[in-house]
Amino acid sequence: MIKKKIKALLKEKNAILLAHNYQPPEIQDIADLCGDSLELSIKAANTDASVIVFCGVHFMAETASILSPQKTVLLPKKDAGCPMADMITPEALKKHLKTLGPMPVVTYVNSTAAVKALSTICCTSANALKVVKSLKEDELLMTPDRNLALNTAAQTNKKIHLWEGCCPVHDRLLPKDVQKARAAHPDALFIAHPECRPEIIALADAALSTSGMIKYAAQKKAEKFLIGTEIGLLHPLQKALPHKKFYAVKEDMACEDMKKIGLKDIAESLEKMKGIIKVPENIRLPALKAVQKMIELA
Ligand code: 13P
Ligand code: SF4
Repeated sequence: MIKKKIKALLKEKNAILLAHNYQPPEIQDIADLCGDSLELSIKAANTDASVIVFCGVHFMAETASILSPQKTVLLPKKDAGCPMADMITPEALKKHLKTLGPMPVVTYVNSTAAVKALSTICCTSANALKVVKSLKEDELLMTPDRNLALNTAAQTNKKIHLWEGCCPVHDRLLPKDVQKARAAHPDALFIAHPECRPEIIALADAALSTSGMIKYAAQKKAEKFLIGTEIGLLHPLQKALPHKKFYAVKEDMACEDMKKIGLKDIAESLEKMKGIIKVPENIRLPALKAVQKMIELA
């Protein structure tokens, strides 16, 4: 019933529903596109729809607004945020840059529009190394994820300065958790997200973005996989590959913010055009430069 209502509202408003791979199953199942942060940014830039309903968190809806200022972007629950994005402010970044001296700033898309606006280029977990390699400079600052920066630094000779931010969901995964899961499923491959600590990446068979994990599991002959990311990804994995088995490496890897939106919120948001996210032009234009530079590399 509610699904039918959402479908009708999407049609009536010429709207598209985008959902991140961590969203609850019932939302992923009605979305026009599910994906990782990079795929969703590209889709938000290219759609003909007049309205984008973003089922994810605040920074994702902001990115859609940065890329499509003429479209209405809706975030059905405005308090769906990202603790990592809140670990850096434009003021703190400016202050830190004064102590470091001039250098490019590579900012993970999991950040506010105001922080993106102060950055040279953005990156996602799918393209961080490519972005760092694309810079002519050999010294740079990566914000706000310390783990993504360390995991990227391990693959390049460039000097990467860190920002002390992290995703609390991924950062709490420890080697002992992986060892326990490996012992329970000795024949499974272990895939970790680059937001995990370097000591976790060292134990993994691969480190990939959420959509990268789905592609990897499809390509590999293995039948069992331990998944080192937010547990919402188990749904698209199992849906895409029903004959394979996927296990959360640790059961408590759930992001509260990614679970805030429900089907009722989507219907209400569309009906009342509620939850509009609009980035002001003075922030949008410099932020767009950083996001667009990243998309051009894709
Ligand atoms: P990706 O889907 O780009 O890997 O991002 C993970 C994430 O933490 C989004 O909040
Ligand atoms: Fe932010 Fe981590 Fe939640 Fe992604 S999973 S929205 S990075 S807190």
